[in-house]
Amino acid sequence: MSASEESKFSFFSRKKNVQVDESKLKIPTHLAVIMDGNGRWAKKRMLPRSAGHRAGADNLKNLCKNCGHYGIKYVTVYAFSTENWSRPESEVHALMELFVEYFDRYDPELEQEGIRVRFTGDIAGLPENIQEVCRRAEEGSKHRTRMTLIVAFNYGGRREIVQAAQKLAEKVKSGEISSDEITEEMFSSNLYLPDVPDPDLIIRPSGEERTSNFLVWEGAYSELWFSDVLWPDFGMEELTEALVAYTARDRRFGGLTEQK
Ligand code: FPP
Repeated sequence: MSASEESKFSFFSRKKNVQVDESKLKIPTHLAVIMDGNGRWAKKRMLPRSAGHRAGADNLKNLCKNCGHYGIKYVTVYAFSTENWSRPESEVHALMELFVEYFDRYDPELEQEGIRVRFTGDIAGLPENIQEVCRRAEEGSKHRTRMTLIVAFNYGGRREIVQAAQKLAEKVKSGEISSDEITEEMFSSNLYLPDVPDPDLIIRPSGEERTSNFLVWEGAYSELWFSDVLWPDFGMEELTEALVAYTARDRRFGGLTEQK
């Protein structure tokens, strides 16, 4: 087997002895991931929960590399939800600190991989220093075109929908539009990132099987894939396994045959 053929098959074969021909995989344009299981990962190692989040943040860098390998164009990750404020203050603080460090620390690698960084969520509701991190990371990476990493931070799908409704209500109030002109397309164009295509596939590791207020509108027709592996351990084998499952899905979007 030549070196290039070997790399074609290497990931899956190590663990499950199943060969995957990458050229046969259907690659989602937009993959979304709920990075769950950091706390349990830390607990198993008798480490503080913050160590689990740090390991999870490190693994985000691996996910980006792996998604780049497959030519995925958009990757959205759930890093902090509107509900996560209810966690102990020390944990919220640790997550904010991690966020502040992250984009400067990994910028050279993100640059090397051609990864643009964007944010989704109620960014205006975050402390000013966090908003500044978002502005800097977006501004400093907007020339990169290979892949876009979208970090959902202070994100809640319901809040996103409410805020879109508020924007539309303002437009009705000012007479810019009338309420019967509102369509699904117009609604979508008032969400946080209207230019980003809907996610094709949402992955949740850690054994939980729900979407927890993530991409509620955008994920209406997303395929879902769940794994028992905890987020910090979710690597290339798991991603490949998800893509194998996604390849076998028949996406009908409510119709009878695959469209789009
Ligand atoms: C859920 O796991 C994970 C979170 C609430 C935070 C996810 C954040 C990161 C991976 C790192 C931050 C990201 C950046 C971009 C710096 P959990 O803690 O609920 O796990 P558990 O269910 O095992 O307790």
